[in-house]
Amino acid sequence: MKTVHIKSFGCQMNVYDGQRMADILSQQGYKETASPEGADLVLLNTCHIRDRAVQKVYTELGKLRELKIAQKANGQHTKIVVAGCVAQAEGAEIQRRQPAVDLVVGPQAYHRLPELLAQTGRVVDTDLPADDKFGYLPAPTRKAIAARGISAFVTVQEGCDKFCAFCVVPYTRGAEFSRPVAQIMAEIERLAAAGVQDVTLIGQNVNAYHGEGPDGTVWGLAQLMGRVAEVPGIGRIRYTTSHPRDMGDDLIAAHRDLPQLMPFLHLPVQAGSDRILAAMNRKHTAHEYRRLIDRVRLARPDIALSSDFIVGFPGESHADFENTIALVDEIGFASSYSFKYSPRPGTPAADLGEQVAPELMHERLLRLQERIEHHRQAFNHAMVGRTVDILLERAGRHAGQLAGKTPYLQAVQIETQAHRIGDTVRVVIERAGSNSLFGRLAELPAPANKELAA
Ligand code: SAH
Ligand code: SF4
Ligand code: F3S
Repeated sequence: MKTVHIKSFGCQMNVYDGQRMADILSQQGYKETASPEGADLVLLNTCHIRDRAVQKVYTELGKLRELKIAQKANGQHTKIVVAGCVAQAEGAEIQRRQPAVDLVVGPQAYHRLPELLAQTGRVVDTDLPADDKFGYLPAPTRKAIAARGISAFVTVQEGCDKFCAFCVVPYTRGAEFSRPVAQIMAEIERLAAAGVQDVTLIGQNVNAYHGEGPDGTVWGLAQLMGRVAEVPGIGRIRYTTSHPRDMGDDLIAAHRDLPQLMPFLHLPVQAGSDRILAAMNRKHTAHEYRRLIDRVRLARPDIALSSDFIVGFPGESHADFENTIALVDEIGFASSYSFKYSPRPGTPAADLGEQVAPELMHERLLRLQERIEHHRQAFNHAMVGRTVDILLERAGRHAGQLAGKTPYLQAVQIETQAHRIGDTVRVVIERAGSNSLFGRLAELPAPANKELAA
């Protein structure tokens, strides 16, 4: 049996694509391995979002070249494949920089992996075909689904038409595209039948979803999630990533009306200054974002919010940055990602003057991260004493513990002998650590009560 090692970088779309490539290769007789050593095929599923992400790929490729040479000395021919967004953005340039790479395949062309691998010599396929890949992807086996656990990502939308001035995604993933409802439902029914209980619908701009419905009309994300909620076994639904401009009334209402839709929303704002938001071509102001959050909270008061932030976008002044801090402190996000602006070749912002000095960017990032962390801790500590349903997903940190997530996407460790992965248990949160909550089964009496009873 041949073996393949797949390493995914970047966003959840890449995690999903990595699994689909594993499914394709499994049909070709490849078994997945956890390590590149000894593998016949090593596939890097790459990310182009920031310069650092790209540097990581070339460092990794340097190591793989050594491995390839060593394995060749032992009579093994190792193939190196670069997939994902760096493949799309750089194409043949990758093989120029690292000749050990056999195949470069873009995110919209990987369904052709079997034919591409059969070709000899160096191969590049970065087509953005009109015909989408989804119709060609094999369904994962029951065994493969079960091995991946009870939570799954399902790509429902791909690509982006927003063209934020800093972002490569519209170029690496292509134009916005929504999968038809029937195709998504078939995939989710299959996942549920194999034990998946928790699905996250993903897309670069997922709330812009507008797929062909079974009735021939165009369905939005809220309508799609209504249908997903009817699948037996699917107890938890999430979606990511959303754009503020596409947060429609029906989607907001779904947070009120759809019990399976978890009270968590990742809604990147990027910055708190209108001047910077306009320069970023974000198509929303800070005020519009605040009012949107008000409406979401009206529909679902306990919702956990998260965002992405970029510091040091060209022209960002001290006052602009302070507006970001003010927004963070006002909204009180449950968690957030924050990045230093990284100029990306081919994007409009890369050509702007007024690039912010690296030391200043660093200072701003630290300050922002301190505020984000403050609010994350506050959100986590506010959970102490609350009783919530936890879906047990994996073994915990220590023997006798299982780990799961709250509806608000926080990790929780629980001591239990009586339950198994896949069970949903009522848990009282007792303590908030720096990265995890700790809880006890609600059916057990609290230690204090035990004393009283004795
Ligand atoms: N589609 C999503 C996420 C895109 S990439 C969205 O619209 O929010 C994830 C995050 O990376 C972005 O939200 C942004 O905060 C960050 N990012 C994108 N391009 C970047 C760049 N050039 N430099 C720094 N951060 C960037
Ligand atoms: Fe990039 Fe903006 Fe599209 Fe998000 S909405 S993927 S940040 S262009
Ligand atoms: Fe990275 Fe491509 Fe995702 S650039 S963030 S892997 S869409």
